[in-house]
Amino acid sequence: MANHPDRARLQTLHETLHRYAHQYYVLDEPTVPDAEYDRLFQELQALEAAHPEWVTPDSPTQRVGGKPLDQFASVRHAVPMLSIRTETDTEASGAQNFDARVRKELVLAETDPPVEYVAELKFDGLAMNLRYEQGVLVQAATRGDGETGEDVTQNIRTIGQIPLRLSTEAPAVLEVRGEVYMRRDDFEALNERQRARIAAGEKGEKTFVNPRNAAAGAVRQLDPGIAAQRPLSFFAYGLGEVTPVEQGGPAFGTHYDMLQTLKHWGFPVAALVAIANGAPELVAYHQRIGQTRDQLPFDIDGVVYKVNSLALQQRLGFVSREPRWAVAHKYPAQEQMTTVLGIDIQVGRTGKLTPVAKLAPVFVGGVTVTNATLHNEDEARRKDVRIGDTVVVRRAGDVIPEVVSVVLPAETVERGAEFTMPRICPVCGSAAVREEGEADYRCTGGLFCSAQRKQAILHFAHRRAVEVEGLGDKLVEQMVDAGIVKTLPDLYRLGFTALAALDRMAEKSAQNIVDALEKSKQTTLPRFLFGLGIRHVGESTAKALARHFGKLDAIMDATVEQLLEVADVGPIVAESIHTFFAQAHNREVVEQLRACGLTWEEGEPAVQVPKPLTGKTFVLTGTFPTLGRDQAKDLLEAAGAKVSGSVSKKTDYVVAGAEAGSKLEKAQMLGVAVIDEAAMLALLQAPPQ
Ligand code: IVH
Repeated sequence: MANHPDRARLQTLHETLHRYAHQYYVLDEPTVPDAEYDRLFQELQALEAAHPEWVTPDSPTQRVGGKPLDQFASVRHAVPMLSIRTETDTEASGAQNFDARVRKELVLAETDPPVEYVAELKFDGLAMNLRYEQGVLVQAATRGDGETGEDVTQNIRTIGQIPLRLSTEAPAVLEVRGEVYMRRDDFEALNERQRARIAAGEKGEKTFVNPRNAAAGAVRQLDPGIAAQRPLSFFAYGLGEVTPVEQGGPAFGTHYDMLQTLKHWGFPVAALVAIANGAPELVAYHQRIGQTRDQLPFDIDGVVYKVNSLALQQRLGFVSREPRWAVAHKYPAQEQMTTVLGIDIQVGRTGKLTPVAKLAPVFVGGVTVTNATLHNEDEARRKDVRIGDTVVVRRAGDVIPEVVSVVLPAETVERGAEFTMPRICPVCGSAAVREEGEADYRCTGGLFCSAQRKQAILHFAHRRAVEVEGLGDKLVEQMVDAGIVKTLPDLYRLGFTALAALDRMAEKSAQNIVDALEKSKQTTLPRFLFGLGIRHVGESTAKALARHFGKLDAIMDATVEQLLEVADVGPIVAESIHTFFAQAHNREVVEQLRACGLTWEEGEPAVQVPKPLTGKTFVLTGTFPTLGRDQAKDLLEAAGAKVSGSVSKKTDYVVAGAEAGSKLEKAQMLGVAVIDEAAMLALLQAPPQ
């Protein structure tokens, strides 16, 4: 029987399918099309159907095999699963305190060299113990209380990234510990499906609050068929019971070596692991990861520092069930739940109407948030946010807070009315229209609309435009509401008396504004252009226009074709600039501002120098070893390239960093060139083609 020809084929299929699955799920580098995998998989299924006695638990077909359970069996951990001390102090001191404690415990003098640490991400999922015997996954257990967990093997088998069988070199007994988590894109897609189910009237379905919550729900699903539909991922970061060295088990000197070996055995290990010497390098890691945290395809709630040397780990030992050699250093939570009290419509400078959720105050991302944007009508309706709903609010970095999703309870509740965008401007009553192909409704009132007027003045006075120090939103509101400022030039005609006559305006403050207005008259062409608030003309376009044309009159009189010659300017922008200056009232504003004394230096038109990457389109994904995402974008754009957010056939290069996700897959599918940061830097140096 053992040498039955089909048996040999079965063996080959096992090996090939395991290899393809590892390339696909763990390395993120599929080498064959999905159809080829499916073909071999079906061949194996057919073989197993003909010979049921050959089906083994490590067969690639056995990822979803089990029947629904009544309850999970208890598992006593051979080695307890400990937790780690958490530094909630989100500042640098969190890392410094840990290093100081380690040095004290090891009785190191100040003159002794820095301690070597491994810095890792703290994944926001749930801890899992995977037990392999003779290289085959025999059990997966949750942490539970650390001593006893639950046997969730059936569900964990469904995770493509988790090997069901290891290469032969693995020790006889091997417990790998790590985090089961859900990627953000998988989470979004899952919630999308859940919403569809709820809409279709399926009972007992709900949406999930966050990826962690969804992952925990999936792991504790009694029906492995349902668990299989909840896309989970895994990162390995430690060991449990392992065959001792004396019995042929592996010998590691450092934690870092161990992680590398886990990777070699086929487990996913996060790429952002770093060796850090002493507290300063821990602090640098904490800051670096903190800055790129939002760009990771999965949630983390902090970083983890571990003493690298296993001998030192042993010397440090444990205190009250927490190792002295490891610590978690948190970041402020970026998501919280709260209630929607109302939905307001804000009118922006260009008349754009933005729905904004008014929230019960909630502390998130380090500040108290009471407003969160819903972006536009489609977004608000897609998320189906209604007054009274419980929502997840996200504030990441300095990005404006947004409503991520509504938390729909499993039982039906009475909800508020569906959101609809008003068809008139709530400020001036002019018609609000949404043009074909646009996401936004706009108030058609123009400068008749006091909201637009206020925003236009604030924009002109902005620090990055002509800069009128002290002219903030309260004051602009007063000026516009009092009717003393209707257009930009009115600002310069105000004078001390009119300003001092405003409510709550002290003489000193009025004089300060007069002085600031006087000072603002000496400006630069890019600042002035940016300050005019032409749609689609941001700071960098204003600079490019000034550089290209040298003089304001040349810009005002430029044709669309001439505008298109500017490196930064495409058809939409060119059209917008042309239309702006074609209107007599806008030219009038410019003339009056000049008459009020606004001046700037003018120059000669620039000579066109071709740039190395003109005409090339790049997409950035993942985290780069040295550059931040914005830095990379700036460098590319300065070299003439376009940086796009999504991969298409028109993409020339995808620059992939650590933890690159679906964009990388798409690039590989479309055959788009994938390069790393170093190759991108090399392209920037290349002479123009
Ligand atoms: S090490 C003895 N490393 O955080 C050390 N834990 O209490 C055991 N976690 O339960 C944990 N990322 O679920 C470690 N890179 C990482 C981690 C990590 C996330 C979780 C894990 C553990 C909790 C710490």
